[in-house]
Amino acid sequence: MSMKFEGYPHIIDSHQFSPEWINEILFPLANRMEKRECIGNKVKSLVGKEMVSFFVGESLRTRASFEIAFRRLGGEVIFGSEAARKFSSMAKGESLEDTIVVLNEYLMKCNESFDGYSGVIVLRTDQEGDAARAAEVSQVPVINAGDGPGQHPTQALLDLYTIQKHLGGINGISIAMIGDLVGSRTIHSLAYLLGKYSDVKMYFVSPEHLQIRAGIKEYLLRHNIAVQELRDLREVAGLVDVFYQTRTQTNFGTEKWDRKDETNGFTIIDKEVLSLAKKNAIILHPLPCTDEIIREEVDEDPRAVYLKTKNGKMSQVRAGVYIRQALFSLIFSSEQ
Ligand code: NCD
Repeated sequence: MSMKFEGYPHIIDSHQFSPEWINEILFPLANRMEKRECIGNKVKSLVGKEMVSFFVGESLRTRASFEIAFRRLGGEVIFGSEAARKFSSMAKGESLEDTIVVLNEYLMKCNESFDGYSGVIVLRTDQEGDAARAAEVSQVPVINAGDGPGQHPTQALLDLYTIQKHLGGINGISIAMIGDLVGSRTIHSLAYLLGKYSDVKMYFVSPEHLQIRAGIKEYLLRHNIAVQELRDLREVAGLVDVFYQTRTQTNFGTEKWDRKDETNGFTIIDKEVLSLAKKNAIILHPLPCTDEIIREEVDEDPRAVYLKTKNGKMSQVRAGVYIRQALFSLIFSSEQ
C-alpha cells in the first residue's frame, strides 16, 4: 500500500484517510515511534527540516505535541507564534493567503538543492475552511491543527490510535460523543473518520440546541453507521465502548449550559455514569477539560485514559506525540 494518503502532503480534514492506510501504514509507524522512544533509539529523520507553528487560535497541548514530535525527530521549529492573531499582519488586514505565501518564501530552499519538502506549516485558526485556503496557495505541506469549529484531523487520528491501543480494534465499536457537538471540531473529524469503519454505532449526546450537524448525520447514514441522538448519557452509558467527552466551546460562541437539568439533559461524566459503564470501556477527552468530567470521581478510574494511565497503558495525550511523529515522518519520507 502507498505511504501517501489522499491529498498528500497537506492534512486538512479527516476524510483524507482510509482505515486501510491507518491500519497498515500509520499505526505501525506510530508503534515504532513509541518503541524507539522506550529503548532510547533516536532516529533523526527530520534533520534539516523546518516547521512553522502558526497558531492564530488558542493552544497549548496541540501545539506542544506538534513541536515536541517535530523536534524529537531532529527537525527545527524555526518560528512559533503565540497569539498570532494579535501579532501577525493578519491583524493589520493581511489575507491568510498572503501570510502563507510569505511563510512559504521563508521555508523554501534553493530550487537546485531541493529534495522533498524543506518545511511544514502547522496552522490553527478560528475560521472554518482556513486550512483548505492555506493549502491552496502553499507549496510546503500545511497541517490543519484546528480551523475554528471545522476540523482537527490529527486529533481524530490520535483518538483512533488510543482506541486501537485499548480496545484492540475500531470496527464494531459503540461510542458516545458527548457535549458541544456544534462547536467541537474534534467530534466532527472523529465522526467523519469513524464513518469509514464497519459496524460502528454512534450515540450523540447533547442538549437540543447543540446537536450534531445535519451534514455529518447524513454522511454517517449514507455510510451505514447506526446513529442515535439523545439527551441523557445515562441511557447509553452501559452500552458504549468509548465515551468521548467535550467541553463547551465558549471560544466559538457556545454559551455554558447546565449539564444536569430537565431541559438540557445529562451530559456529564461522574461516578453515576462510571457505575453504569462497561468494565472495559474507555473515557476520552481531547482536553482542555473544564467541568464536564467530575475529575475527583473519574480521574483515578482505570477507564479514564484522557490524561494519565496506570500500568504503562497509552494515554490519549501521549498517543498524540507518536501519531504526529508518524505523520511528520511520512510527509518527509523519501521512500514515497
Ligand atoms: C481541542 C481543540 O482545540 O479543538 N483541543 C485540542 O486540540 N487538544 C478541544 C477543545 O479546545 O476543547
